[in-house]
Parts: sequence; C-alpha cells; structure tokens
Amino acid sequence: MQANPKYTFSVEHARSMDNSDPVPARTSDFHMPRIKGKEVIYFTGNSLGLQPKSAHEALKTELDDWAQWGVEGHFHARNPWVNYHERLASGLSHLVGAKEHEVVAMNALTVNLHLLLVSFYAPKGKRTKIICEAKAFPSDQYALASQIRFHGGNPETDLIEIAPRDGATCIEEEDIETAIRSHADELALVMLGGVHYFTGQLMDMQRITRAAHSVGAYCGFDLAHAMGNVPMQLHDWNVDFACWCSYKYLNSGPGAVAGVFVHDTHVAREDIQRFDGWWGHDAKRRFLMEPKFESMKTAEAWQMSNAPVLNMAVHASSLDMFLEVGIERLREKSKRLTAYLEAGVQQVAGEVGFRAELITPQNPERRGSQLSLAAHGFGKSLFEALTEAGVITDWREPNVIRMAPVPLYNTFEDIASFLIILKDCTTALSTK
Ligand SMILES: Cc1ncc(COP(=O)(O)O)c(C=O)c1O
Repeated sequence: MQANPKYTFSVEHARSMDNSDPVPARTSDFHMPRIKGKEVIYFTGNSLGLQPKSAHEALKTELDDWAQWGVEGHFHARNPWVNYHERLASGLSHLVGAKEHEVVAMNALTVNLHLLLVSFYAPKGKRTKIICEAKAFPSDQYALASQIRFHGGNPETDLIEIAPRDGATCIEEEDIETAIRSHADELALVMLGGVHYFTGQLMDMQRITRAAHSVGAYCGFDLAHAMGNVPMQLHDWNVDFACWCSYKYLNSGPGAVAGVFVHDTHVAREDIQRFDGWWGHDAKRRFLMEPKFESMKTAEAWQMSNAPVLNMAVHASSLDMFLEVGIERLREKSKRLTAYLEAGVQQVAGEVGFRAELITPQNPERRGSQLSLAAHGFGKSLFEALTEAGVITDWREPNVIRMAPVPLYNTFEDIASFLIILKDCTTALSTK
C-alpha cells in the first residue's frame, strides 16, 4: 500500500506504531474470535464487545461461592451478593463523569429507559412533547412512542424528530436548539442518543442539556454507543438522566446488565414518580420487610430487584480494566486509531476508484471510535466479502458498513491488515 502524506499503511509500520503507542492495546487480555481456524479482525466492539479473559475467573468465583454457600453467599461470598451492585459504582461513575451515588447497574437498557421515563416524562397541560433524533435506535422510538400513548398522548404530534439538514447525514446541535426554542412551553423532555448508533455522531450533550433546561424541560441520553467509548461529565453537564447497556464497549457479555445515571438533584426527590421495588428500599431496613416503601436517597432508589450477580461479576471485572487504563487515555488512543482507519479507507478508495462516503463526522470531536461507511457501487456485497475474508464489521440497512476500532483491543496493525483486505475485496468486486 502507498504511503499517504501523513500516514504509512504497511503492516510493518503499523506494528511499530503499536509498539510505540503510549496507550498500548491490551489485546492479549481478550479472547479474539476465530473463524475457520483463523483469528478475525474484529471491528464490532460497538455491537458486542469481546470477552475479557478475566470474565471466566470472575464468573467462576461466584459459581464456586454459590456452590459453597448457597443462600448464605448473600453475606458470606467473597463479594457478598447483598450489596454486589455497589462494586460497580466506581467504574460506572468514572465512565459517565458522575458521583458514585448517581449511578447504578440494573436491568437492561430499554427496560431502564422506560423506568426513567416514568420519572422524567410526566406530561402536564401543554407540556406534552418529547424531542428526539430522527432515526433514533428503534427501541428508543418504540419506548418514547409507547410512553406518550401510555399518558394518553399522540406520538404523531407529541414526538418531534430532528433530522439532518438536506443532503447531510448528521444532525446539527443548532437545529436541536432551534426546535427546543420553538416548542419551549410545550416541551416536557429532550431525549437523544449520546452517540448515534447509525452515523457514530457524538452529540454535544452539555449544550443540548443547557438548551432543554432553558425552557424548563428535562434532558436525558441513551448512552449505548457512548459508554466506554467517549468520556463524559454527566454530573457537571447537569444531565437529568441517562441509561446504557454494557455489552458493547464495556465488554460485559451478551445481554449484560445495563445501568442508569440520575442526577444528584433528583435522587432524593419525593415529588417525581418512580416504580418501586424492594431493592430501591432503604438498604439498612430492606430485610425488615416493612410494608411502607422508604426509598434510597441515591440512584439505587430506581432498582427494583436483587442484583444479577453472575452477570455483574463479568461486568465488574470488565469495568476494572477501564479504571486501570482510564477513559481519557482510551479516548486519545481511539482518536488516533479512528483517524488512521479513516485515512486508510480513503486511500484504498482512491487507489481502487470507488467513492467511500463516511457518514460519520470528520471532526474527531464530533465522533467516537465508529466509522460508518457507505461504499458506493458495492453495497452489501462488500460487507459479505469482508466477512468471508475474516473481517467482522456490521451491516446496517440500507447501505452502511459500521466499523469500530476499539482501543482496548484493536491495533494499528489490525487496521493495516484490514486495508489490504479492503483493497483486495473492492478490486475483485469492481472487476466482476
Ligand atoms: C442506541 C441503542 N439503544 C437501545 C438499544 C436496545 O438495547 P437493549 O436491547 O439492551 O434494550 C440498543 C441496542 O443495540 C442501541 O444500540
């Protein structure tokens, strides 16, 4: 592969970049999937993160303690199960920029979104509308629309979707602000993805929160694609609430326990609705089995059920890795990897002669580690050829291949090797 003015894409050079990088990948701490006996190039950590090798031991610890203690493990396990979720607070608060009492791991993402909407979507009088992004992840759209219907509203009029400008692929924050201002006294909530699942656009969450608050609306974010990808400061940004999953960048396993953030200013409020369960009851009195609910004065008040310990064990060991490396450093590395991949894809496109439209923002500050590529002239056949050649990306209808070089385990060498395969595949498809 030819050198471009700024980057060199040979595998040897990429390897030397890996060796001298101040934030080395920890690839050997993960299981790299193998297809047809060969390790793949894995660019789908934005969909399902790889298994940390520590997951096995973490799970075994809890299985062994369960075998040894039975129910007594709640108090006598090495990590007592009764307050197991507390182990996760330091990692989660580090990642979202929160105080420990503002976060809690529980349930699954869409479930948590509904539970938070119970608290933060309370349409009243004229204030019935929700602003979200057009083409939000479908589960979010379903959740928002069904909450509106649940309150007797009409999603056709109460759900306002902000789309990219004509010809653009990403949404301008300015357009969100304009919509917020023009619906000022009708707006109950602004609810967006922190990083857009399709385009990879990173929203300016602070700016959007400020705009929502200026008209008296709440502001919340779905952080499925932001968590473990970009650093955040949800507390300082005054975000009201957020929810996320942990099976993507957080590498906690398929369907892993999710989490929520509730801002300090709301955690002890008596005047908002919440669905209660015994794990949200004052922990000191939980086992007194009293009939009257006394909530925790932390985000834990939103917990309903006792902790899914087996899964949380994997989550905890995975979060430890983020605490060891630090999300800020990972972000710096992620910018370097993503820029290298971006430049390499453009170089291959130039050499082979196809249009590689990256619908992800070019500005590194407006994206995380994902690049969404529309490879004009190839469509799904390119995705299939890459998979066949051992590169795991993902395909999103109608025409996008998403790739996420994840700094914990992807390397410059992965990218350089991928570019050779990309060139081979596009050359072969062009001559068909
Ligand atoms: C942005 C976003 N929101 C919501 C979901 C739904 O997640 P879950 O099935 O864990 O509720 C996903 C899943 O990938 C997602 O990417």
